[in-house]
Amino acid sequence: MKLAIVGTGYVGLVTGSGFADLGMEVTCVDIDEGRVRQLQSGQVPFFEPGLQDLVKRYVARGRLRFTRDLGSAVRNAQVVFITVGTPSLPDGNPDLSQIESVGKEIAENLDSFKLIVMKSTAPVGTARRLGALIRSQRGPAADIEVAVNPEFLREGSALEDFMRPNRVIIGTETERGARILKEIYRPLYLIETPFVFTTLETAELIKYAANSFLAVKISYINEIANLCDALNIDVHIVAKALGMDRRIGPKFLHPGPGFGGSCFPKDCRALVQMGRQANVELSLVDTALRVNARQHQVVLYKLRQGLGALEGKTIAVWGLSFKPNTNDIRESTAIVICQALLKEGCRLRAYDPEVCAEAQAVLNSERVCFCRGPLETAEAADAVVLATEWNEFRNLDLAEVKRAMRGDVLVDSRNVYDIEMVKSLGFRYFGVGRR
Ligand SMILES: NC(=O)c1ccc[n+]([C@@H]2O[C@H](COP(=O)([O-])OP(=O)(O)OC[C@H]3O[C@@H](n4cnc5c(N)ncnc54)[C@H](O)[C@@H]3O)[C@@H](O)[C@H]2O)c1
Repeated sequence: MKLAIVGTGYVGLVTGSGFADLGMEVTCVDIDEGRVRQLQSGQVPFFEPGLQDLVKRYVARGRLRFTRDLGSAVRNAQVVFITVGTPSLPDGNPDLSQIESVGKEIAENLDSFKLIVMKSTAPVGTARRLGALIRSQRGPAADIEVAVNPEFLREGSALEDFMRPNRVIIGTETERGARILKEIYRPLYLIETPFVFTTLETAELIKYAANSFLAVKISYINEIANLCDALNIDVHIVAKALGMDRRIGPKFLHPGPGFGGSCFPKDCRALVQMGRQANVELSLVDTALRVNARQHQVVLYKLRQGLGALEGKTIAVWGLSFKPNTNDIRESTAIVICQALLKEGCRLRAYDPEVCAEAQAVLNSERVCFCRGPLETAEAADAVVLATEWNEFRNLDLAEVKRAMRGDVLVDSRNVYDIEMVKSLGFRYFGVGRR
């Protein structure tokens, strides 16, 4: 089966190389010339564990190609996956212009039947409108079908998620579309991955409902953690006991400074907007967003507890990506924390194992010094903040860190350190919701 994948971001590149690994012939398309050139030489433009090897392998075998020429990729393929971005507009609705422009280009290049599969996350009705757009350009007899196949991969473990998804959702207009997608995903079908076959609109909503549910769960445990702080209770015991209830489950009950990334905040905002347009108030999701918008302040609050006024203080920040194992800083809480600290008049020393240039561009201040390692970051700092829990920060020689610092405050916004051990080294420790 020949596939075209339009958009080579996290989703497009993982999908493209994943399908190449499953035996398909894949052409990935992007408008970003630099990115395409990099990929043609087997270089992945962002950090995702395992992806570089996979891309190199299938580029070398000729099963994975990269081009800017959408027309030839579409003409060559039976199935076209759309994996372009759908970032938030200022009003919270997603910007669908990348999808529309791809739709128009596809319409100009139709030569035989194409199944056009929306993998980008887009509101209910988008896929059907995309089909209508293409048919309006090519006439009602245009030989196309649209489908929706939302993506659930997590950055940092994206390949594993692609190969072993919890489920595959397939929304189609007809049996024919469902049959083609079932064939493409046959290797996963054979390892008994659950499949849900449904309508276009249902598939679109499932993606938003799933992400928003997880976001609500995070905001919920963060509020419980804040209450634990006030009542001198350990939130981890509460979360563990909650998670033992099979109706609740243990995942996404880890308190912290709030969720970020390119999906949860944007998808929650989009779902709230979808509700508004349908005259349905989605107040739970709306509230989860509001709780999240202020949760990063827990870090500032703890720093003030330890240091008093923050102006003029030097704060070391460990981790800048929105979560470990990615260099994605879109809506990263660590970056939000840095920006808030700069606003308070702090000096920052910052380090992330994979993020530097991207962060330098957004934290563009003479009061930020980017360092080469966690120890260097801690040098002469009044406080250290663990903002993103990369493994590298879990097994540090904290005694050495303490010696390098000027102060003794450790704000562990991800609750990864053993409190007694850290205290025995002379730190004043501040976690989130830990006694
Ligand atoms: N990143 C995730 O973890 C994740 C997970 C699940 C779903 N999603 C959804 O998948 C979609 C893609 O996300 P992403 O993070 O991969 O996006 P991204 O922004 O990293 O990548 C999008 C790519 O599309 C390219 N592009 C834009 N317009 C184009 C055009 N006209 N023709 C060809 N290429 C074009 C861009 O140059 C870019 O390389 C979004 O809707 C997102 O919500 C993302």
